[in-house]
Amino acid sequence: MTDTPTVYVTRAIPDVGLDRLRERYEVVVWDQKLPPTKEHVVSRLAELDAEGLVCLLSDEIDAAVLDASTDLSVVSTFSVGYDHIDLAGAADRGIAVGHTPGVLTETTADLTWALLMTCARRTVEGHAYVAADEWETWGPRLLTGPDIHGATLGIVGLGKIGTATARRAAGFEMDVLYSGRSRKPGREDELAEFGVEAIYVEREELLAESDFVSLHVPLTEATERLIDESALRRMSENAILINTSRGEVVDTDALDAALATGEIARAGLDVTDPEPLPADHPLVRHAPERLVVTPHIGSASTETRNRMAEMVAACTEAGIDGEPLSHSALRDAGMG
Ligand code: GLV
Repeated sequence: MTDTPTVYVTRAIPDVGLDRLRERYEVVVWDQKLPPTKEHVVSRLAELDAEGLVCLLSDEIDAAVLDASTDLSVVSTFSVGYDHIDLAGAADRGIAVGHTPGVLTETTADLTWALLMTCARRTVEGHAYVAADEWETWGPRLLTGPDIHGATLGIVGLGKIGTATARRAAGFEMDVLYSGRSRKPGREDELAEFGVEAIYVEREELLAESDFVSLHVPLTEATERLIDESALRRMSENAILINTSRGEVVDTDALDAALATGEIARAGLDVTDPEPLPADHPLVRHAPERLVVTPHIGSASTETRNRMAEMVAACTEAGIDGEPLSHSALRDAGMG
């Protein structure tokens, strides 16, 4: 028997986080490629009397998980999003919940732009064309797409990542619109310092006016299927939809239909519903001409993943020590 607390980790996060945890705890890692089942997590937490749980966004943390070990004092997720965690259940049980905001903001904004640019300038199609040995000559009409510079970028949800995405528009002299629950004068000022004038409009206006619509809202009851059939119908037939938030913010069937009928021009998705998106899913038939999909890699730079790993380790330590978490999902969700 040992008095050293045990931390269960549902996947091999970067070593910098695991090594830090190992300095103070018994650390048990599920080191397979695919996630453990919820039943497995529950039984391991119970067997280990775990005090800490480090999880990913693909692990559902519900009452069964929260109740698995009576010693559980902290759940720390290797993600900024916490829609996979029963926050109210954690708060009721006095379990702290850590997450990783801030450190992944710029990296996710970079990926948003990678998708935006690849959809506009058709780089994935271009690569496939060359790889298929179809490139026989320079073509005056080959793979033309819309200009990015001077276009209108619509940001749905001007939070941290939405703001970082909007800031990058300065280099492209774009008009920037944003929508959300309320106007954000502080964010507008922040952007103005970089020469971006972000104009608050109703979502309907943003959808109708934007050449690029980029989604940056957290997944909540209010944002689930925010981009549905009627929202897509409001968008221009030349518009490009980018989603690096959560797949469920877009109604997949409605998007499928909008791409099929040409109601919008293209979509670039880093998140999908379902996720993972199987290659035989109907949506994938639009790729690569109308659709580019990446496998939820918004925060996937080496530096950022290392910073996230350090942050989940720090939150786990604070939770086990009974100290306030530097990044508490309960606090950020207004619940603690
Ligand atoms: C990624 O989607 C995250 O929530 O960190």
